[in-house]
Amino acid sequence: MELKEVILKRRTARKFLSKAISEDILFEILEAGTWAPSHGNNQPWEFILIGPETRQKLAEMYQNYMEAGPLKNPELPEERKQFIRYFAKNFGDAPVLLAVSSIPATSDLDKYDFPMSTAAAIQNIFLSAWEKDIAGVWLSFGINTQTHSLLGIPENGKISGIIALGYPEIIPPAQERIPVSEKLRKLP
Ligand SMILES: Cc1cc2nc3c(=O)[nH]c(=O)nc-3n(C[C@H](O)[C@H](O)[C@H](O)COP(=O)(O)O)c2cc1C
Repeated sequence: MELKEVILKRRTARKFLSKAISEDILFEILEAGTWAPSHGNNQPWEFILIGPETRQKLAEMYQNYMEAGPLKNPELPEERKQFIRYFAKNFGDAPVLLAVSSIPATSDLDKYDFPMSTAAAIQNIFLSAWEKDIAGVWLSFGINTQTHSLLGIPENGKISGIIALGYPEIIPPAQERIPVSEKLRKLP
């Protein structure tokens, strides 16, 4: 697949086939993450592969979090709620669940840079995965401080994303993009 095609065709998937991702393929995908740029090549990312016991606990936390937040919204259509509940139960049955975190940052510069480099690593992961017919979803659930203790994130470390990966059962349609012309500001 050409790079342009990978970038334009990649989609977030939230429902997965039961087909496993082989360890070799997973390592290749994570290796793509390590080729992200970072300040002075400091490579601040860490990949945490979440096993069944931790996954169960994380799913419980996620379900509680969703019930207490988005699912309380009376305007959310019932069908959407049902899907959120399905997804939250076991992360769409994704065969791989991982967290990508940044190592502890103490200086202002590291606090600024580490999560950005880590996010770049995550994008590399998604693009590399897509090239191998694997898709996933980037979850903001790392915002919940409980996840940090469950996943053993040290103080001043930060989860940039919790990521479910697998061979998608459903590939959602493309979400519209705002044209560059509306995002571009030219300075004199
Ligand atoms: C930083 C970040 C956080 C996201 N958090 C969530 C999330 O918590 N739950 C979710 O279902 N999708 C999440 N997404 C996926 C977005 O909803 C998705 O990327 C967006 O709708 C565009 O769709 P596409 O990725 O298929 O182009 C997140 C994406 C990013 C980059």
